[in-house]
Amino acid sequence: DPDANADLAVLVRSIPDHPRPGILFRDLSTLLLDGWGFRTAIDRLIATLDAGRVDLIAGIEARGFIVASALSYALTKGKIMLRKSGKLPGEAVGIDYALEYGTDRIEMHVDAVRPGTRVLLVDDLIATGGTALAGVSLLRGQGAVVEEARFLVDLPALGGADRLAAQGVACRSLLA
Ligand code: PRP
Ligand code: HPA
Repeated sequence: DPDANADLAVLVRSIPDHPRPGILFRDLSTLLLDGWGFRTAIDRLIATLDAGRVDLIAGIEARGFIVASALSYALTKGKIMLRKSGKLPGEAVGIDYALEYGTDRIEMHVDAVRPGTRVLLVDDLIATGGTALAGVSLLRGQGAVVEEARFLVDLPALGGADRLAAQGVACRSLLA
């Protein structure tokens, strides 16, 4: 049912021309302001998961941490911070990627995963998929198995979910 999450969709605000002219920004801060909305969103994401097949949850800085933290707590799974450049204190590896608006870099600690660790990748939103694909490449480069990704919102016109699927990552989102 494509309208199953219509009650959550009304909590997402759309802001034209942010951060640049021509971009219609889907603002999740309004969903985060709503206690029922956030709890319900996390509960519904959990309902799409087979937690027995997840060892760790990886969240992408910054907004991805909000989702990763809630899932990690609810499922009693550890989490990996995929951080923007220069923030991690230990030995780290990184990857540069293109965004819908600009470029960026994410990094992870090399000892966060072992070969075969099954990692669920999460973020608040997938647009072009550049960020999520960078996360998948980074994690796989360290030996992790990344077969599932979850987002609160997908912007399907930008093709990110299709790009993830083409890399063997099954991707589910609550809202499109
Ligand atoms: C946003 C969002 C995703 C990414 C989606 O993060 O939280 O991580 O962009 O875009 P993509 O699918 O085209 O890569 P942003 O880089 O704005 O960082 P933030 O979480 O620190 O705000
Ligand atoms: N909303 C929030 N984050 C984003 C968007 C958006 O529309 N596009 C890329 N990252």
